Amino acid sequence: MPEQGREQWASRLGFILAAMGSAVGLGNVWRFSYVTGENGGAAFLLIYLACIILIGIPIVMAEFTIGRKAQSDAVGSFEKLAPGKPWKAAGLMGVAAAFMILSFYGVIAGWIVYYFINYLTGNLWTAPAEGYEGFFVDFITNPWHPLLWQFIFMALTIAIVYVGVKKGIERANKILMPLLGILLVVLSIYSLTLGGASEGLAFLFTPDWSALGDPSIYIAALGQAFFSLSLGMGALITYGGYLSQKEHLPGAAYSVAGLDTLFAIVAGVMIFPAVFAFGIEPDAGPGLVFMIMPDVFDSIGFGGGLFGLAFFFLLAAAALTSAVSLLEVAVAYFIRKFSWSRKKAAFIIGGIIFLIGIPSSLGNGILGNVTIIGDRGILDSMDYVASNIFLPLGGLIIAVFMGWGWKKADALRDSDFGDTVLGNLWLFLLRFLAPIAIFLIFLSSIGLFG
Ligand code: TRP
Repeated sequence: MPEQGREQWASRLGFILAAMGSAVGLGNVWRFSYVTGENGGAAFLLIYLACIILIGIPIVMAEFTIGRKAQSDAVGSFEKLAPGKPWKAAGLMGVAAAFMILSFYGVIAGWIVYYFINYLTGNLWTAPAEGYEGFFVDFITNPWHPLLWQFIFMALTIAIVYVGVKKGIERANKILMPLLGILLVVLSIYSLTLGGASEGLAFLFTPDWSALGDPSIYIAALGQAFFSLSLGMGALITYGGYLSQKEHLPGAAYSVAGLDTLFAIVAGVMIFPAVFAFGIEPDAGPGLVFMIMPDVFDSIGFGGGLFGLAFFFLLAAAALTSAVSLLEVAVAYFIRKFSWSRKKAAFIIGGIIFLIGIPSSLGNGILGNVTIIGDRGILDSMDYVASNIFLPLGGLIIAVFMGWGWKKADALRDSDFGDTVLGNLWLFLLRFLAPIAIFLIFLSSIGLFG
């Protein structure tokens, strides 16, 4: 039985679109490109794809199954299905991760909105005096501008969660996400004409096998897979909880993961040829998209600014539907746990997350030079801990819960797999491969294998 006052998706498509809207976001464009660039390209991409297929999709299925069965939030679902057991730790960690991730996600999304506005006013249609890179650096080091745009983005996110995720996002996902997909394809074809195509494609698709000896690319690939799929913190449990029993879950999981991965690869084909054509270092870090894309639009010549306008608008919209899913994890929990109204929860939790994000926002400016993990600044450190540690750990617990905590027959039935080869493969991956792989990747990242 759904809990009192809970929404349900209007249609079968509503759920898939919402899950896709959650998955497709800054993770596919901003994060995928900078993390791939930092980790050397093709070898990283290969590990990333393996993580999606062998670990990601099975855990997406586990989250969908848990959510639909329990019809509750990230924590409540575990309490309901396994009362008094410690599994709900995964849900609590997930709520904590939602706070962390949205805190810096709002900052980057704010940058996107700022770029959108600058394309709207025509300011970035031609290179500013200080150049596109200079413009970017001036902006992120400004003492308060990034904060303003982070605030605006968070206010939009809160407004949507305030009126309810269903009303708020179904339409946006149906129209704007396909448009973003088309735009990325068009831009990637154009990018291939810029003169950096062979280098860019080789970087992305021709692995340097020796890179596989570097343990840090495994944890980076695992974290990127979780981040991009919105996995490991109960976001998909929460969305699955708004689902009626009619959905065929495996089909939904393949579509969401397939589309998400396609977006990332197309974004890679758009960005890396340009990176080489314009002589920017692939490992430039979180600013990569912001430094490279204005050059691409500028090179189009007359009307290029319109592409910039569309690009930053559609990316902001994609970021918004992802941010909504992050906020919804925490909001759904607080509504149930403390009997808050949706409006109160959206407002208070969203406000707190904005506050938590302030150090990330100012980390390049007045809080500059603060490094926390390695040479990472405040924002990247937050990202690193949440995405590479919290999400995989949450995913590990979810995999073990589904694989070992459920009766096999129940798991096969409730997932819609039935007693099929795929269903048994799924349980095998959840029981053995996923937990062991995540565990080994953790060990290797703390340097245990030398
Ligand atoms: N997947 C989203 C993106 O790629 C970000 C996101 C939304 C997310 N919800 C999440 C990441 C839950 C981890 C967990 O932009």
